[in-house]
Amino acid sequence: MDYLQIQGLSHLGGEVIISGAKNAALPLIAMTLLAKNNVTITNIPDVKDIKTLLKLLEHLGATFTHDEHSVNINTSHIIHTKATYEIVKTMRASILVLGPLLAREGHCEVSLPGGCAIGQRPIDLHLKALEMMGAKITIHGGYVYAEAKDGLKGAHIIFDKITVTGTANIIMAAALAHGKTTITNAAREPEVVQLCEVLRNSGVNIEGVGTSELVIYGSDRRLLEISPFEIIPDRIEAGTYLCAAAITKDTLTLEKVRPDHLESVIGKLEEMGFSFDTSTDSITIHPTEVIKPVSIVTQEYPAFPTDMQAQFMALCTQAEGTSIIEERLFENRFMHVSELQRLGADIKLNAKLATITGTTELNGADVMATDLRASSALVLAGLIANGTTRVHRIYHLDRGYEKLESKLKSIGADIERLSE
Ligand code: EPZ
Repeated sequence: MDYLQIQGLSHLGGEVIISGAKNAALPLIAMTLLAKNNVTITNIPDVKDIKTLLKLLEHLGATFTHDEHSVNINTSHIIHTKATYEIVKTMRASILVLGPLLAREGHCEVSLPGGCAIGQRPIDLHLKALEMMGAKITIHGGYVYAEAKDGLKGAHIIFDKITVTGTANIIMAAALAHGKTTITNAAREPEVVQLCEVLRNSGVNIEGVGTSELVIYGSDRRLLEISPFEIIPDRIEAGTYLCAAAITKDTLTLEKVRPDHLESVIGKLEEMGFSFDTSTDSITIHPTEVIKPVSIVTQEYPAFPTDMQAQFMALCTQAEGTSIIEERLFENRFMHVSELQRLGADIKLNAKLATITGTTELNGADVMATDLRASSALVLAGLIANGTTRVHRIYHLDRGYEKLESKLKSIGADIERLSE
């Protein structure tokens, strides 16, 4: 297995180009199940999760050509509707084929995704919403069996909790349904907004895009003519690089990024003393002599994103004083804490609350990645730890960060990928 070896006290500088957003590309690739034409998607990130979803679509009968950052998909010959455990267990976002496949084929069998390191991550809200749209849902043998022979019917869906992929699933299901679907308490993440925009550009009438109340007028199961589109920049990858420059106290410019998608992250970094120059598609972060401690609560967009929680925890070890981080979305998203403590971090955990006391000098050690964003937090800590840090099990990283080590190396980090 590969691991990353980082020599501490790195200094960063120059520019880094941000890739397309994994969490936008996944629902948009699943959305091609609603198309009658070949769909061209560009600016796709070259990461493992994308390859996994393409493999699932191929398994269902789709054909595609895929080069590093673009894909051309044809789903006109779906040969069966079973998303098998073998594929779904490697990536829970495979659940995103449930809505479009059911809307298109009238039935499908999708393996339950199972939990993951950061939490149990149920899909009850997805299933309840589809039942309200007339689907017959049964679960046995670890699979969801969904049926809507005559197609789905528009309904008023009220999500008890804001769910990103739940909202995406229902938007895609509603796009082909008979009649109008209203989603109340919809997720407002930029990745959900892009899904709505691409569907709207393909003739689906959607109102309230970007708000928590969406109204979607279905096409009565007529497949869609989907125009080519480009995936939006990855706001979490961008936030991770901002934290890299913040923790090493260097100036760094991010290109091909959407500052408007990072307002809560930039706001927190400003609270910590950092300053920024931004344009429509670039951000430059400037260092601060003293990093101020901060209080963070993770919530749904546009509030502070849970996917940036681990990275900020690494940064808070270098703040002068006590920072507090409350994780509100997932019940087990603090596994990076014990790994950061191995590097010398002073962190106390109390259920959903982490208290980080800085400034602590970190010392290199062998640490283990446990989930995608925790892995990047350990890399950030390694940049400023004395000596050598080795981050093991970086298959977690490869799921969602494109060429992390070569991008970091290109801006000055002393990092390399080695094999155990
Ligand atoms: C998406 O996951 C992202 N993944 C996650 O990013 C992100 O952390 C999460 O949204 C929150 O922003 C993708 O977009 C592929 P949720 P998702 O449904 O949709 C509960 C990363 O690092 N819930 O919004 O699975 C759930 O348990 C990943 O790229 C239910 O109870 O998250 C959680 O507590 C990690 N029942 C909360 O809602 C449901 O049916 C938010 O989950 C669905 C969700």
